[in-house]
Amino acid sequence: MSQTEPDEQELEEQLELSTDTRGILERHNLRPLWEVEDDFGNTIDDLEADIWKWEDIQAAIDGVEDDVPIADLPPGFQRRVAVPINASFGNAISNTIYVGVQTVSPGETAPAHRHGANALRFTIDGSEDMKTVVAGEEFPMADNDLITTPQWEWHDHVNDSDETAAWLDVLDLPLVLDSLNARNTFENHELERQPVTKTQGYWGSQYGQGRPEGASKDKDIPGPFEGIREATPPHRFKWSEMLKSLRQRAENANPDPYDGYSLSYVNPATGSPPLFPTMSFRAQLLQEATDEHFHNTTEVYFVVEGEGATHVDGEALEWGERDIFVVPPDATHHHEPEDEEAILLGMTDRPVFEAMNFYAEASPSS
Ligand SMILES: [Fe+2]
Ligand SMILES: [Fe+2]
Repeated sequence: MSQTEPDEQELEEQLELSTDTRGILERHNLRPLWEVEDDFGNTIDDLEADIWKWEDIQAAIDGVEDDVPIADLPPGFQRRVAVPINASFGNAISNTIYVGVQTVSPGETAPAHRHGANALRFTIDGSEDMKTVVAGEEFPMADNDLITTPQWEWHDHVNDSDETAAWLDVLDLPLVLDSLNARNTFENHELERQPVTKTQGYWGSQYGQGRPEGASKDKDIPGPFEGIREATPPHRFKWSEMLKSLRQRAENANPDPYDGYSLSYVNPATGSPPLFPTMSFRAQLLQEATDEHFHNTTEVYFVVEGEGATHVDGEALEWGERDIFVVPPDATHHHEPEDEEAILLGMTDRPVFEAMNFYAEASPSS
């Protein structure tokens, strides 16, 4: 630095305001920037790395399921969910992405509602008879299937199987509710279950190899999903198909240095990632240790298969199947599968940073 910065007391003496000026400022709710600039960027603490082990989550969701039927939950979201809380943030795993582990017992329904936040389900324990109903269509939830819930679209969860179903809910709730303060975007349906008005596979079929005449990427011509404009359509990404694509990639392409063999889930309406305007998701097959990097975005992970460790600023988060962990912004990290391979579901708030032209990434070695 070429100049010596004045200390705080010197600054106050140099910049002392007259009593008159101070009075005018105070009467009209004005403050000099130099007195408030240090307040910016300090309203929340820095996010820290953290991990939740599946055996602990399992014990928690089993206990909550035994103690509380969904029907007894108070009005509101009416979902039976155990929510990983990052102690450095306070009410979710991060300040942008929320994850929760939801259960629905055999014969139970999680009632229909809708909200402005983007949402998806990633099935942990599911079956063809566990269904999430979205925009009039029943979507079966087989293990590791990912099902989108468009913004402001009705959805309810119905367990017609004889086993408890569990899945990961992922939403941009902290961003929507805490940062944007968009609180009036929630509504309960008048019925517990919305009417099923579409045949199974309808929404996916309209965004597959054929589309109805007139539907295009042109923003003035709506796609087959007539919900809120430009919301991600309802879609079931079958894990069996994602896994085949991932294996094809491993056999025919080079791994990404930082994420292994990695495929991003696409928005069916555009054919490109990100899946949502606020969150992007990828399936990652790791066959060897990745290189270190860091970025100004947050990454949340769910371990689909295998064991290993993710090293975050020198701390090893040792993970096994179904564990959930978070890598905070600007932390140097790399992944290391323990055995031959591991598969992760990677979730990131990167689309928000890219929309603001604000994304930055680097490798310590570069
Ligand atoms: Fe919901
Ligand atoms: Fe990363």
